[in-house]
Amino acid sequence: MALSLSNFRYCCFALLSFSVFCNAVTVTYNFNATWVTANPDGAFPRPVIGINNQWPLPVVRANKGDTIVVHFTNLLGNQSSSLHWHGIYQNGTTHMDGAVGVSQCEVGPGRSLTYNFTVNQVGTYWYHSHINAQYPDGIRGPLIIEDPDNPYADEFDEELLLTLSDWYHDQMPNLMASFVSVTNPTGAEPVPDAALMNDTQNLQIKIQPGKTYMIRIANIAAFAGQYFWIEGHTMRIIEVDGIYTKAAEASMIYITAAQRYSVLVTMKNDTSKNYAIVGSMDEDLFDTVPPTLNPNVTSFLIYDQSKDLPTAALLDEFDPFDDFTLEAYDDEKLFENVDHSIELTLKMDNLGNGANYAFFNDISFVTPKVPILFSALSTGNAANNATVYGANSNAFVLQRGEVVEIVLNNNDPGKHPFHLHGHNFQLAWRADDEAGDYDPNNATFHSVPMRRDTVMVRPDANMVLRFRADNPGVWFFHCHIEWHLATGLAVVMVEAPLDLQKSLKVPEDFIQACRDSNTPFEGNAAGNTKDVFDLTGENKSIAPLPAGFTARGIVALVFSCVSAFLGLAVIAWYGAAPIGTAEVASAQRRIVESGQEE
Ligand code: C2O
Repeated sequence: MALSLSNFRYCCFALLSFSVFCNAVTVTYNFNATWVTANPDGAFPRPVIGINNQWPLPVVRANKGDTIVVHFTNLLGNQSSSLHWHGIYQNGTTHMDGAVGVSQCEVGPGRSLTYNFTVNQVGTYWYHSHINAQYPDGIRGPLIIEDPDNPYADEFDEELLLTLSDWYHDQMPNLMASFVSVTNPTGAEPVPDAALMNDTQNLQIKIQPGKTYMIRIANIAAFAGQYFWIEGHTMRIIEVDGIYTKAAEASMIYITAAQRYSVLVTMKNDTSKNYAIVGSMDEDLFDTVPPTLNPNVTSFLIYDQSKDLPTAALLDEFDPFDDFTLEAYDDEKLFENVDHSIELTLKMDNLGNGANYAFFNDISFVTPKVPILFSALSTGNAANNATVYGANSNAFVLQRGEVVEIVLNNNDPGKHPFHLHGHNFQLAWRADDEAGDYDPNNATFHSVPMRRDTVMVRPDANMVLRFRADNPGVWFFHCHIEWHLATGLAVVMVEAPLDLQKSLKVPEDFIQACRDSNTPFEGNAAGNTKDVFDLTGENKSIAPLPAGFTARGIVALVFSCVSAFLGLAVIAWYGAAPIGTAEVASAQRRIVESGQEE
């Protein structure tokens, strides 16, 4: 990894205030995305996307106030890419947010661009590519913003960093093809093959007895939330997703995909034993649990190298800490006067190709032809009208300064971790499992709510998020289960677009990425610059199934027709010339098509 400090970092001791003052610097990285081979669970070597021919990926680290510059080059050869800085607010730099189709064009094979943004926030974050369900193939790593004024600084001696992840042996393009398919009408997500900690298993962490560690934990998974605990030790939660909390004791936490925690853990003085650190994938998320799956990953706190490694106890009941009970350290009060309430109703359903998709308010997100930020910048006053962003963008235009509320009704029996780009939000309310749709008369609000950037809605239940629209930009809001983002579980907040038109100048290399990938970068979602309310030719989701048709019905029809056809083929084969498998396949395709049209 080429890391250089392009300025001198120097600290001055301001003697009068007895505090340390550090100058902000620019931290520069050269990141080349490349394929490398890795075998993190020891069971299956496979190609993964590394940076500079290394995997696991480097940690991006800076101090509050620093500028991070990443020269990114895509050397994958066969796939486009991008980098998103998960949890970074990108205040004034929404075009650096890395979400392809939303805030930028794809970085094609052989192409480069430079991300450049200043971090005026602290805490535990991560980075990952944000295109075509790509990051689970390995292009995801931690991003840490150190805080020179950590309010808990006196309470710990050292820092540790742990990532959690699920892991697949197959590559995402293959998994996506079988997931989004008529043969998977229920939308059963591929089940991971393993769980990882720091992109490995059985990691040994040597610790100093008696010391207190701040352990940063980031779940960089594609899908699985994990229960996390340390045998024989309690944790004190002090940070969630970059927001300090009042310290809260927990013996077990639940970390959804994309969430982060910092916990303080004090080591024992007694060095007679070593202890297991356990992450356990939440099997409720999996439609079927293969008998061979080990959902757990274990690491070890090593008090004494000469002692045995313990065997972690298996649990069949989990009782994690409820993050809704946390309070923000800065005492920011619940926003009471909501200016703009957005109700989002989540469902899963089939479309006309028989595959399963995800919907908010009956719309499954489809990437528009023109990335949404570019439409916001090039449609004049019409940028305030959500229509220009296209029927399948599910765009909501926010006015500067308003208090926005998202009321999310989850009409699905699954748990979903939702992430908002560009902001943290208050978790004003979260209902228990199966509570149904939001009913304000049945909700209790905390006067100082927990804030974070990723939060889980419970099965068939609801939650209410609030934030202030104080960050002009184009911000994705989506489920961070990569399978669900890929099938449309997203909306876009277009925040103060007319302010963006005045203040934002997209750098030339970002425009060049559009040219290189033949992506239009002006006009409405369809690329129409003349009549921005004419969306002819825009990208749309597949048409719904015809009334009375179910995806299961289509599968049944295909198989019965194919077997009938094979029967005929056998007769034809006896009677005449042989028939090739290609012909069978094309007949099969025709049957699927005609099935849809009925
Ligand atoms: Cu980790 Cu759209 O984000």
